[in-house]
Amino acid sequence: MDMNINKLNELSETRVMIVEDEWIIATNLQNVLEDIGLTVTSVVLSGEEALKRAADERPDVVLMDILLHGKMDGIETAERLRELYDIPVVYLTSHTDERTFQRAKGSAPFGYLVKPFERTELRYAIEMAVYKHRMEKALREKSRQLEELNKSLELKVKDEVEKGRHREHMLIQQSKLAAMGEMMFNIAHHWRQPLNIIGLLIQDLDEASTFGEIDDEYVKKMSSDTMEQLNLMSKTISDFSNFCKPSDTKIVFDIKEALDNVVALVKSQLENNQINIIIRKSDGSVFEPDSYVTVGYPGEFKQVILSILNNAKDSIFSKRLSSSYVHGEDGEIIIEFSETEDSVHVSIKDNGEGISDLIRDRIFEPYFTTKTDGIGIGLYMSKLIIENYMNGKLYASSTEAGAMFTVQLQRQIQ
Ligand SMILES: Nc1ncnc2c1ncn2[C@@H]1O[C@H](COP(=O)(O)OP(=O)(O)OP(=O)(O)O)[C@@H](O)[C@H]1O
Ligand SMILES: [Mg+2]
Repeated sequence: MDMNINKLNELSETRVMIVEDEWIIATNLQNVLEDIGLTVTSVVLSGEEALKRAADERPDVVLMDILLHGKMDGIETAERLRELYDIPVVYLTSHTDERTFQRAKGSAPFGYLVKPFERTELRYAIEMAVYKHRMEKALREKSRQLEELNKSLELKVKDEVEKGRHREHMLIQQSKLAAMGEMMFNIAHHWRQPLNIIGLLIQDLDEASTFGEIDDEYVKKMSSDTMEQLNLMSKTISDFSNFCKPSDTKIVFDIKEALDNVVALVKSQLENNQINIIIRKSDGSVFEPDSYVTVGYPGEFKQVILSILNNAKDSIFSKRLSSSYVHGEDGEIIIEFSETEDSVHVSIKDNGEGISDLIRDRIFEPYFTTKTDGIGIGLYMSKLIIENYMNGKLYASSTEAGAMFTVQLQRQIQ
């Protein structure tokens, strides 16, 4: 800003064009201007000539008589000069009728001098016009820069948001992989029993053949027993592949069904570790079919449930290790459903160690863990999935027995 003001003071650098069709006045003006120390680039008689000259001369300011001979009057010429070359104009006129003045005003002039005027008036008018014009130009430049900056900032923000999303996706995918490892473990466990049974059936087939006991009835029973076991194995695998299925778009799915799916995979492993798992309605009523439907990502939802169940299991184990259970007390995980008109609440309560007030605020932070072998992303991911991707809520609270995690999702009325 200071630099501009200094520049303005160097008036002698200011180059002025005079457009005036009365020679005497024009010459007089030229003398006054040069006397003040300004440079007069040319004196022209008509608007047309002014436009032609201005293209080469590019004066800093034009002194313009309003009434000119020729096709264009001063106001029109001023408008063209502004449009074509961005040259500011100061009007000179002896004519001050209201209409002309209003027209002149409409052309946004940088000054308006009524003849006769004083030398100092002229000087100030030119100085002001040049100053005003430079300021306007600087302002325009600044707003252009600002606009550009805004645009590039907008792009950067968009870019960062996009990158963040991408990172989130990668993290979700990563933690899903970890969960899948856990699931594989469960599948292996699940398959052991049907595989044993099938083994026994085949052994029996062998013996029956030796003793000639194979008849129609035997074959029928053998095939239905084997199919039953195979179906069981196949169900485990399809539960698992449902879990692994990447979800690109939101779909309508049944929360209860998805939860049953996960529980079916982990139940026997939990029970082997003396952890009972119960699913029920919080008010003791029976489950109504199709009452727990939402829109979202079922695979990711299952991942959340698995994370919470794993945490519950860890907490029960750790309580057991510190011998805090009353003798003979089992671990317990209770999953309770409740619904309102527009949402479904799933609370998962355990009777583990509970969450101390000291860390309650931190458990959803990424990489916060109190476990020696924990990463600390289970709950962070879960919150991200439920709250950012499925418009729901996930929060922790304490119960008398231990910890409780509640997933709240919007209900899709069928
Ligand atoms: N049911 C629970 N009872 C008590 N504390 C819990 C329970 N669930 C989570 N926490 C606490 O919250 C912390 C963060 O849990 P989170 O699932 O995010 O990570 P983590 O289980 O430690 O590691 P991982 O990344 O393997 O899941 C746990 O370390 C534990 O201290
Ligand atoms: Mg965890």
